[in-house]
Amino acid sequence: MNKSISENLALLRPIVLIGMMGAGKTSAGKILAGLLQTPFFDSDHEIESAAGCSVAQLFFDYGEAEFRRMERKVIDRLLKAGPCVLSLGGGAYMDPQTRERLKKEAFTIWLKVDRDILLERVLRHDTRPLLRGGDPKAMLEQILAEREPVYAEADLIIPCDARPVLQNAKILKDAVLGSPAFQTAQA
Ligand code: S3P
Repeated sequence: MNKSISENLALLRPIVLIGMMGAGKTSAGKILAGLLQTPFFDSDHEIESAAGCSVAQLFFDYGEAEFRRMERKVIDRLLKAGPCVLSLGGGAYMDPQTRERLKKEAFTIWLKVDRDILLERVLRHDTRPLLRGGDPKAMLEQILAEREPVYAEADLIIPCDARPVLQNAKILKDAVLGSPAFQTAQA
């Protein structure tokens, strides 16, 4: 059967984009949601709306542990909202409770991006609290080394590197349409 989004789309579970800061999860996720005609959420954005301040400010005022608590709560709420595209902050998948939940209830895609590209992107803006207070290159490398083996537990890995975001989103769409997370509704 030729699965197409012009047919009756049936996304069976949330499509969750994971990966490092700078991987392009939010930009690709927004486009992907448009292509799949499904709602889009971004965990950082939802946390900022709930807290009434930026992620950086939350880290500064309350510390990472409180940020992670809020992140878990927000993801829990979003997973209950039904099929959607959900982009997660880079550390969210590292939480064992969230990871187990995602394995049962979502279809996760790791947007895998080369270290040098990530570095070039994250150094453009000073908004990532985890890269402050030291050498950002060394800090990013350490985080990457800790996280890559865990990100590799995702249902699907898509190397995203330097392609334009629209092209990445189309690759993601094709991957979703061919995955068990998608089913064409029976006539
Ligand atoms: C984080 C990534 C950020 C944000 C917070 C922590 C991380 O999101 O959630 O600064 O632990 O990697 P992005 O991945 O969208 O930059």
